Amino acid sequence: MDHDTDISSPSNNRPFRALLERHLSRRELLKGGLGLAAMSFFSAPQSLFAAAANKAPLINFEPVLIKDGSGPWPAISTDYQFDIIIPWGDPLKPGGPSFNYPPNGPDQAQQIGIGHDGMHFFPITEGKFSRGGNEHGMLAINHEYGRNQHVLGKKLPESLAEVRASQHAHGLSVIELKKTKGQWQPQQSNRARRIHVNTPVTFSGPAADHPLLRTKQGNRPQGTVNNCANGYTPWGTYLTCEENFNTVFGANSHWQPNKEQARYGLSRTGANYGWEKFDPRFDLSNPNYHNEENRFGWIVEVDPMDAQQTPVKRTALGRFKHEGIALTVGRDGRVVGYMGDDQTFDYIYKFVSEANWQTMRASGKSPLDHGQLYVAKFNDDGSGDWLELSIDNPRLADQFSSQAEVLIYARLAADRLGATPMDRPEWTTVAPNGDVYCTLTNNRERSQTSKSNPMAPNPDGHIIRWRDTDNHIGTTFEWDLFLMAENSHNSEETFSDPDGLWADPDGRLFIQTDGNQKQGLNNQLLVADTNTGELRRLFTGVTGCEITGITSTPDRKTLFINIQHPGKGDPTQTNFPAATDGLTVPRDATIVMTRKDGGVVGS
Ligand code: FEO
Ligand code: CA
Ligand code: CA
Ligand code: CA
Repeated sequence: MDHDTDISSPSNNRPFRALLERHLSRRELLKGGLGLAAMSFFSAPQSLFAAAANKAPLINFEPVLIKDGSGPWPAISTDYQFDIIIPWGDPLKPGGPSFNYPPNGPDQAQQIGIGHDGMHFFPITEGKFSRGGNEHGMLAINHEYGRNQHVLGKKLPESLAEVRASQHAHGLSVIELKKTKGQWQPQQSNRARRIHVNTPVTFSGPAADHPLLRTKQGNRPQGTVNNCANGYTPWGTYLTCEENFNTVFGANSHWQPNKEQARYGLSRTGANYGWEKFDPRFDLSNPNYHNEENRFGWIVEVDPMDAQQTPVKRTALGRFKHEGIALTVGRDGRVVGYMGDDQTFDYIYKFVSEANWQTMRASGKSPLDHGQLYVAKFNDDGSGDWLELSIDNPRLADQFSSQAEVLIYARLAADRLGATPMDRPEWTTVAPNGDVYCTLTNNRERSQTSKSNPMAPNPDGHIIRWRDTDNHIGTTFEWDLFLMAENSHNSEETFSDPDGLWADPDGRLFIQTDGNQKQGLNNQLLVADTNTGELRRLFTGVTGCEITGITSTPDRKTLFINIQHPGKGDPTQTNFPAATDGLTVPRDATIVMTRKDGGVVGS
């Protein structure tokens, strides 16, 4: 039955359901090679729709239509409402320096950064971290990047002062937010802080003291960059993930990348920012700062409740272009993190702590400092292997001299073990039933397909799903494809380039996009019901932006998402969030949304 031609209304969910049916029959095909036990980890196809019929629908809102989702202003479902808060350049706390354009370095260090990305809301009740805080909390929010043209109004900085303005726009903000008279507002707070490219940081874990993390200059480790997506721990800390750090390095004089630098994308022409012209730390050709680049590409732990805490780079989680980390607690109370390395043909990783996280913390050990790092191999029969990146593996002992080196050059170690090259792994999320989802945003360079990356080229991306065979701590898993974006294109539910992801506790999957959408749509937030396969569009952004970052209050009645690079920073495209026609520089900002009837967001 062909559903593609018979769409009558946007709430008709059949096109997406057809897509899911197709993927289920593919699973049936795989079944022959897998055996029954292996296949039973997801609901059987028959029970999938039968079960759905007995349950209240998870999604019950009027979707945003394609025709309404393409302008210079956001659109939201008519069942919802939104506010815009904490735009780039606003003061971190009341009374701080207000927005000035272009910003100067000292002010920018006390203002909200640019490139709003991954974030997490840490609720507060009666002054303490508590699940009850639905109207008060700390919001930790990444500032991934802002192009010079957007931040400085020029292509390259012309002084160290301008470099500082650019650097201080990067990193992350920790903001104390409270809902007062219906509005979420930054508070006076001794917990609030900016962390940026020049903030002192420290290293921990197996690679912390390795010579590859030291420079001849002897400068102390400083800063975090390209903070993309995020994670959070069961003990109440925030994890910020360093992605495209290669873009902040350049070379003022002759320099050639070695094989490790080349594998991490460091190149003479790769620098977008020109920081190296005035800040020798970012000059790859300066021998005094050799190895500085090895200090980036990590996951950094931040305490959102303590502004005095020094951010910690956790080396056990490996060095690559970290998109994000989805943390869960697996068998034996071990903490497990799933991570994507966002580059064409790069890999998906998993970290498993050495022991129960509470026991470890009680004995003064960080669960993120001791454990095993694995990389994923997706087999064509629907099974998968977690390959351990351990110096005890003779194939790695051949090429690396210590576990620290394996972690610093995790990409090269994963190459060596034969990990599966994926179509740009972005966000990961763990659903309450143990399924893990990962967005594979696109891959225009793929010429050979595999079952896990079945399109060549793959301009629109897909979402893969797996389940570990031993409650997240095993060395094998079973996987299938949740959806192919291309299959949605002839429907009202069209989307491309899936990126941000969040599986809520009820079985909804929130999907955010970053790329050219079809039919003139702006980037968007969709909600999928993973039981029925229904998909609806909840929100669309503005011209030139991406939608990213997602977190909610504990009661899930308030959702925060981000508008990143509105108009690509070009005021002729949009003045968002200024609702005027003057040429006002567009500013990244956070959207706060609620259901008009006070219900759970996504329903
Ligand atoms: Fe920072 Fe892969 O998006
Ligand atoms: Ca992303
Ligand atoms: Ca992206
Ligand atoms: Ca991005």
